[in-house]
Amino acid sequence: MSVFAGKHILLGVTGSIAAYKAADLASKLTQQAALVDVILTSAGESFVTPLTFQSVTGRRAYTEKDLWGSEAHVLHVGLGRSADMLVIAPCTADTIAKLANGIADNLLTVTALAAQCPLLLAPAMDGGMFDHPATQANLAKLKERGALIVGPAEGHLASGLSGKGRMVEPTEIIGHIRLLFGRSGKLAGKKIVVTAGGTQEPLDPVRVLTNHSSGKQGYALAEAALASGADVALVSAPTALDAPVGARLVCVQSAEQMLNAVLTELADADVLVMAAAAADFRPKNAAKDKMKKRDGIPQIELEAAPDILKTVAGRRSKMKRLKVVAGFAAESRDLLENASEKLKSKHLDLIAANDISATDAGFAVDTNRVTLLFADGTNEALPLMSKSEVAERIIEHISKLLE
Ligand code: CTP
Repeated sequence: MSVFAGKHILLGVTGSIAAYKAADLASKLTQQAALVDVILTSAGESFVTPLTFQSVTGRRAYTEKDLWGSEAHVLHVGLGRSADMLVIAPCTADTIAKLANGIADNLLTVTALAAQCPLLLAPAMDGGMFDHPATQANLAKLKERGALIVGPAEGHLASGLSGKGRMVEPTEIIGHIRLLFGRSGKLAGKKIVVTAGGTQEPLDPVRVLTNHSSGKQGYALAEAALASGADVALVSAPTALDAPVGARLVCVQSAEQMLNAVLTELADADVLVMAAAAADFRPKNAAKDKMKKRDGIPQIELEAAPDILKTVAGRRSKMKRLKVVAGFAAESRDLLENASEKLKSKHLDLIAANDISATDAGFAVDTNRVTLLFADGTNEALPLMSKSEVAERIIEHISKLLE
C-alpha cells in the first residue's frame, strides 16, 4: 500500500504566484490516496480559488472567513490535530516570519500553532527576500524546531529577476513527504541497491547497442524502498527519469560498469533488486573512432556481457550483510517455466516474472502484470497494476523476507 494512502495532509497555500503549482501538488497527493485539506490565506486566495483545490481534492478547502465562522472554535484545533503532516507550499517570507515567532493571526498560522505533526515548508519569494538576514534567521529558528525546509530553487522569478526564490516543483515536495512518512518504515536502517534502465554497450564513440527499458519499474522500486525508510542506492543506466528524492544515484552506461557499481554498493547492503535490463551481449571490439560509411557496412562481432546476478551469486558467501536478492524475468513465452529456471540458476530469493509480449505490461508503459516466484517454491500472481503498486508489493515481500 502507498505510504500516502489514508494520510491526512494539511496543505497551507500562501500568497505567491507559485500557488498555482500547489493545485498540482494537491492533485498529485490525492491521486496517491492522501486526504488533502487545504487552507488558503487571504493572499493565497488572491492567486487561486478554494474551488480549484476542492475540485482536485474532493474535500473542502478552508479560507480566512472560516476562522470567523460558526465552527471556528474547533476548526483550527481539529485540522491541526488530525493532520499527519502540515505542508505549506508556497510559503512566503511573511508566513515564515509568523511561524518562527509564533504569531497566530490567520487560520493557517493559528492552525500551525495547534498542529503537533511534522512541518514541511517550501519557501517562495522574490529576489533578495530569501537571502535577507531576517528570513534566514527565521528559517534557522524553524529548522532548529524540526521543520523541514525544501528549497527554494534558483531560476527565473516572477518579477523578471533571476535568483534563489522559486518554489521547488511538486514532485520534489512529494519526494520529501515520502521520506518523512517513510522514516520509521520497515526498512529503516537497511540499505537496498536497486538497478534500473537498459544498459548501453558502445559500438563506437557515437553508437550503442541497447534495449527498450524505460527504467520506470526500477525507479518505482527505489521510491517504494524510500517510502519504507531504506537507504537507497539507485544504480541506473541512462533514462529520461529524475531520481527520487533521497535516493543516491549512481550513473552507469554498460553492463560492465553496472556490475562494478553493484559490487561496490553491495559491500554494506542488505538487499539487491536487479530491475535493470542489463545487456547479455556486447560488441567485442568497440571502435575508437566513429565508424564511417565510406568504409562499408561493418561486421559487428558480439561477446557475452557479464551476468550481474550470476556474479553476485558466486560471491554471496563473502557478502555478510546481503540477505535478499531479487530479479526480474522478462519473457515473451513460457513465462513461469523460464522465470523459475532463472530463480534457481541465479540463486534468487524472489523473481518477478514479466510477460513482455502484453501491451499493457513490461517496457515503457506505466502498468505491469507480474507473477512473483519465491525460492521456497510458492508464487503469487498479481493482477494488472501500476508499476508503483507492483514496486510496493515487491518491497513488502522483501521486508517479510528480511524479518
Ligand atoms: N541480468 C543480469 N545481468 C545481465 C542480464 C540480466 O544480472 N547481464 C538480470 C536482470 O536484471 C534480471 C535477471 O537477470 O533481474 C533476468 O534477466 P532476463 O533478461 O530476463 O534474463 P537473462 O538472464 O538475460 O536471460 P535471457 O535473456 O536468455 O532470457
